[in-house]
Amino acid sequence: MNLDELKTEIKTILSKKQLSVDHRLNEICSLLKDNIDYYNWVGFYFKNGNKKELKLRAYAGAHTDHVIIPFGKGICGQVAESNQNFTVPDVKAQDNYIACSIDVKAEIVVPLFVEGENIGQIDIDSHTINPFTEKDEVFLEFINAEVAKILS
Ligand code: SME
Repeated sequence: MNLDELKTEIKTILSKKQLSVDHRLNEICSLLKDNIDYYNWVGFYFKNGNKKELKLRAYAGAHTDHVIIPFGKGICGQVAESNQNFTVPDVKAQDNYIACSIDVKAEIVVPLFVEGENIGQIDIDSHTINPFTEKDEVFLEFINAEVAKILS
């Protein structure tokens, strides 16, 4: 599937109101991981209630111990505070990074906004070094905007 086909499929998944939001988010994670060769782990983290931490809500890929991530910690925790996309071409070059697996070489995290508030994020890990381009950012921003519609 190319990116346009994936976008259509994502809209279809999100429109399945008979499925829980968690189920739909998990389906999106699997769809992305299975169709983009350099997306090796795909997950959605959301702000955990009123706490200054993120909680993993849906994912596809290897099990991770990092279900809770405090704001400010790692790439994810930094995005929770900066409200900006964060592309990491080489995780070895990052000081504030939480390693999930030795296979991960690169990461991209894009915040998810509902009514202007940064409430979560999509996180992609890659086993390929420097794989992400602006196209990935635009694509992931599209996905988050579509997910925001079913959350608001
Ligand atoms: N590497 C992330 C932690 C989450 S895992 O990639 C699943 C980080 O530094 O925030």
